[in-house]
Amino acid sequence: MGIITLKDKSFDTYISKEDIQKRIKILAEELKKDVGDKEPLFLGILNGSFIFASDLIRQCDFPLNISFVKVASYLGTKSSGSVSQLIGLNESILDRTVVVIEDIVDTGKTVEKIDGLLKKNGARDVKYVTLLFKPDAYTKSIPIHYKAFDIPNEFVVGYGLDYNGWGRNTDNIYKIIEE
Ligand code: IMP
Repeated sequence: MGIITLKDKSFDTYISKEDIQKRIKILAEELKKDVGDKEPLFLGILNGSFIFASDLIRQCDFPLNISFVKVASYLGTKSSGSVSQLIGLNESILDRTVVVIEDIVDTGKTVEKIDGLLKKNGARDVKYVTLLFKPDAYTKSIPIHYKAFDIPNEFVVGYGLDYNGWGRNTDNIYKIIEE
């Protein structure tokens, strides 16, 4: 707890590890009620979700698969513009219930890309679970079904989230101290 410094920025404790773990237990119960009998595929979005995903699935006492993917964008043909791709999705998602695990949903651009790709690949049902949600920044209409915490439009790090690659390795979540 307290203040941490990552390179040129300082951050103050914002959400404690105890509060994170409490919310994860509740989310796992909600998931059990909704998809516990669907043998879902949990899909962690790298890099940020790896710690949250690891804690969440260990609270989910029902049969599930877990896999991790990265969302990458590349320039397609001139007419198609930027094209998105899920890297690392090796299993078929045809007719499956997919639970996407995000670290943070900000504008929703990432979720929108993922949603299109999963539906295109034949997922039966796609649920979104995120550790953090910024309601004031969200501009999309895709429902985010499970949120551990709603937070204001401020920059946070820790518990998987980074500042330029630093700070992922903490148990608590920290908020930037604006100078
Ligand atoms: P979106 O596509 O705008 O929803 O942005 C999602 C991505 O932005 C997340 O997966 C993070 O990588 C990054 N991001 C947004 N807000 C924060 C933050 O407060 N801290 C760290 N990363 C963030």
